[in-house]
Amino acid sequence: MNRPSLVNSTVLIVGGAGFIGSHLVDRIQAEGATRIIIVDNLFTGKKENLYHALSNGAVFHVDNAEDQEVLNYIMEKYDIDIVFNCATKALNYSFYNPSNAFLTNVLVLKNLLELQRKQAFQTLCHFSSSEAYGSSQYQPMDEQHPLAPTTTYAAGKASADLMLQSYVKMFDLDAFIVRPFNNYGPRQNFEGDLAGVIPLTIKKILDGDAPEIHGPGQQTRDFIYVEDAVDIATKVFPLIPAGECVNISTDQQLSIENVVETIIDVMNYKGKVLRMPNRKADVISHRGSVKKLQSICGQYPKTSFKDGIAATVNWVKDSV
Ligand SMILES: NC(=O)c1ccc[n+]([C@@H]2O[C@H](COP(=O)([O-])OP(=O)(O)OC[C@H]3O[C@@H](n4cnc5c(N)ncnc54)[C@H](O)[C@@H]3O)[C@@H](O)[C@H]2O)c1
Repeated sequence: MNRPSLVNSTVLIVGGAGFIGSHLVDRIQAEGATRIIIVDNLFTGKKENLYHALSNGAVFHVDNAEDQEVLNYIMEKYDIDIVFNCATKALNYSFYNPSNAFLTNVLVLKNLLELQRKQAFQTLCHFSSSEAYGSSQYQPMDEQHPLAPTTTYAAGKASADLMLQSYVKMFDLDAFIVRPFNNYGPRQNFEGDLAGVIPLTIKKILDGDAPEIHGPGQQTRDFIYVEDAVDIATKVFPLIPAGECVNISTDQQLSIENVVETIIDVMNYKGKVLRMPNRKADVISHRGSVKKLQSICGQYPKTSFKDGIAATVNWVKDSV
């Protein structure tokens, strides 16, 4: 495979001020990339997430990657070799603005694929989501699982994946997909309506409020610690063939009830838990097969859920 190495390359990370993107920035900087450029419109991203990266020479543009002209000027300004696309608007946002949540997931990737087709850069790693699969039709869910989205957010992710695969077939592009399951860890948003369940629960307990479980609590997710996820993304980077997709998951599932219980245990919370109505279109169960991941890169890190939660609790405490 004639793919540039992350070492000694100029790497663009779109959505790089966000939760996963900023960890990826740190990881790729540690790998020894020559230069890192970040484009993020700060919709949910935060400049603080880039504190280390910017002090180590990364360059940050606050701009909208849905606008083709923006990515055009970035490509003209820098000699980019590799692009990672982490830009998205949170799943919850699709309940407020279904059309734009869908379009962000499609347009940013379309703009990048058009530039790649014109040879503006060599390799594209696109971050999809387990949400594209919808609720599991069988378990563990492998990469052949049908795409059956239940939200416009997920429909945008599924559409983007199909678009990437068709561009690869039509124009021989060096582009591929990583498909994370639920990430958690430091820098995940704990504020407002777009917050993730884990940091939101931690924040509620710190504020003296009761944590909430929406729906039966038996809905399951395959939770992966964010630093493990970005480590895996860099491990598969040189190995996964163009056009292919690989799950970033643990092959374990935890119910939302288990998750809240672990947080309660780690934080030594003695109060009550509120039961709330089910969220509409919530996927029922997710457990991602790691078979393909293992066949590509062998061993990979697996932070225990309790250790990952403890690190996340410490980070939320330091951030409030
Ligand atoms: N967090 C998870 O559990 C999870 C699970 C599966 C897949 N993913 C995928 O991983 C990627 C990163 O997710 P995340 O959890 O870090 O989300 P995030 O919201 O923290 O990060 C997304 C970033 O994209 C930026 N952004 C949004 N619209 C933009 C635009 N038009 N132009 C430029 N920047 C824009 C946001 O400001 C934010 O910084 C996404 O593709 C997401 O679908 C995340």
